Amino acid sequence: MKIFLDTADTDVIRKHFATGIIDGVTTNPTLIRKSGRDPEDVYQEIKDIGVKDISMEVSGCLDMMYDEGLRLSEKFGDVSTIKLPMTRDGLIVTRHLSKKLVRTNVTLIFSIAQAVLAAKAGATYVSPFVGRLDDQQVAGLEVVRSICDVYSTHRVRTQVLSASIRSVQRAVKSFHNGADIVTMPPDVFEKMYDHILTDKGLEIFEADISEINKL
Ligand code: G3P
Repeated sequence: MKIFLDTADTDVIRKHFATGIIDGVTTNPTLIRKSGRDPEDVYQEIKDIGVKDISMEVSGCLDMMYDEGLRLSEKFGDVSTIKLPMTRDGLIVTRHLSKKLVRTNVTLIFSIAQAVLAAKAGATYVSPFVGRLDDQQVAGLEVVRSICDVYSTHRVRTQVLSASIRSVQRAVKSFHNGADIVTMPPDVFEKMYDHILTDKGLEIFEADISEINKL
C-alpha cells in the first residue's frame, strides 16, 4: 500500500516527504509545464530530496521514447521509472525497457483490455485514470477493481497505480479495490489527515490536560 505524490512542485514534495510516508512521485508533461522548470532539473531535485521512485514521462516516436527512456534511466539510476503512453509504440518500448530491467509505468489506461496488454509487455506499473473515467460517467474505481482482479487471478506481477485522483474518497477506495499504489495531488494527501472527530477529540483532551495541570 504505497502513496505517491502526483506533482512536480519540489517545495511541496520536500514538505510531505519529510513525513516519511511518501513512497514515490509521479510527474507528467502538464505538471512539469506548470512548474515552469526544465524537467531534468525537477527530477534531479526530487532525487536529491531522497525520493526513491520518480515517474518521468517520455514522448515522440518509438525510437525517441526508447532512447530517451534509456538515457533518463542511466542518468537518474534506480530512482527512475519511465512513464510511457498506452499506445502500440509505448508498449513496444515498455517491453524493450523492461527486458533491460528499467522500471516502467504505462499511463493513460482506461480499460481492462489496455491493462492486460501493458502487463503482457512487462510493465512494472499501469496507471488507470480514475478521475477522467468518472468524468465520462464510467466508474473509474470499478475499472481499478477489475484490473486488480484480473492481475490477481493470473498472478501478474504488474502493479496497479491508481491515478487521476481528485478526492480522499477516491484515494481510499482505490486501495480498498486492490490498487498497490495511489498517486494523488498534494491537496488530497493533506486532506487524508483530517477528521472532524479527531479535531473534537483533541480539543477535549487538551482542555482536560490544562485542567490536570492546574491540580
Ligand atoms: O496521474 C495522472 C494525473 O496527473 C491526471 O490527473 O486530474 O489531470 O485527470 P487529472
